[in-house]
Amino acid sequence: MFERLTDEIDGIIARDPAAHSRLEVALTYPSFHAMIIHRAAHWLWDRQFRLSARWLAYLGRFATGIEIHPGARIGRRFFIDHGLGVVIGETAEIGDDVTLYHDVTLGGVSPAVNARAQVGQKRHPTLCDGVIVGSGAQILGPIVVGAGARVGANAVVVADVVPGTTVVGIPAKAAGLSPRLVDRALDFCAYGTLDGSMPDPTAVLIENLGARVQALSQRIAELETRLGAESDDRTNVVAAPLRRDRGEAGRQANQQPDGVPGRADAAGERN
Ligand SMILES: CC(C)(COP(=O)(O)OP(=O)(O)OC[C@H]1O[C@@H](n2cnc3c(N)ncnc32)[C@H](O)[C@@H]1OP(=O)(O)O)[C@@H](O)C(=O)NCCC(=O)NCCS
Repeated sequence: MFERLTDEIDGIIARDPAAHSRLEVALTYPSFHAMIIHRAAHWLWDRQFRLSARWLAYLGRFATGIEIHPGARIGRRFFIDHGLGVVIGETAEIGDDVTLYHDVTLGGVSPAVNARAQVGQKRHPTLCDGVIVGSGAQILGPIVVGAGARVGANAVVVADVVPGTTVVGIPAKAAGLSPRLVDRALDFCAYGTLDGSMPDPTAVLIENLGARVQALSQRIAELETRLGAESDDRTNVVAAPLRRDRGEAGRQANQQPDGVPGRADAAGERN
């Protein structure tokens, strides 16, 4: 339990340059308080103490300005920087190491989808590991934001987001940026911006392509060697009896009365 709490606090310190100590985070970070309350409310929710869960979540909203439905499933080291105005719906799912800034909504899309008959159905988004969502962004509907994707401030996202990409605008579209390479996309960058601390995506892309070309060249060389050996074997299997037959036939056809080999026999020997 204590380990889990320090893990959450360390996750916040790693992502907020303004955080200086564990004690400071424990005492003054609404994100940390909201998560403790949410974990307790979610525990109650899962055990069918629905009203108690809602009441606890309501107290949490009062204390922190962050509204998280107790049904939402949230992974480890979740961090909401500043916090105020964040709303997370009942069927939202959030992976590990996800970061939200203030005024973000993970919501449903239309009254029809939110109708009573649909209660319990997936209506809210899924944010995979390492996603960063800028302030004011609205992510709406049962869509999936892929691992390591970044959502720009004030974007409205209504469709799936490819892992490692950045989306901006209304409706959100992929920005004209090099995608964060998915294997490195889970590295956090403050405010989602690719400053000097992030690897240059183009350089990394070239490096990865170089390694791939080298691996493919090696594979081609191996295949060529194998193919060469097999074709040598085949040539020997087919050609050896042929040479023998042609040699015999030639010898008989060209046999000179005095037993001196003819021209065809000599050619057969050469082959
Ligand atoms: C989207 C974002 C992650 C991109 O950051 P980046 O990789 O450093 O990209 P850049 O700032 O170089 O911007 C690249 C392009 O996207 C555009 N862009 C960036 N953010 C945008 C946004 N939120 N909405 C619309 N367009 C945006 C830029 O104008 C630029 O366009 P151009 O290529 O036509 O000139 C970042 O701008 C962002 O919105 N981060 C969230 C910040 C935040 O919420 N801060 C709150 C802290 S309290």
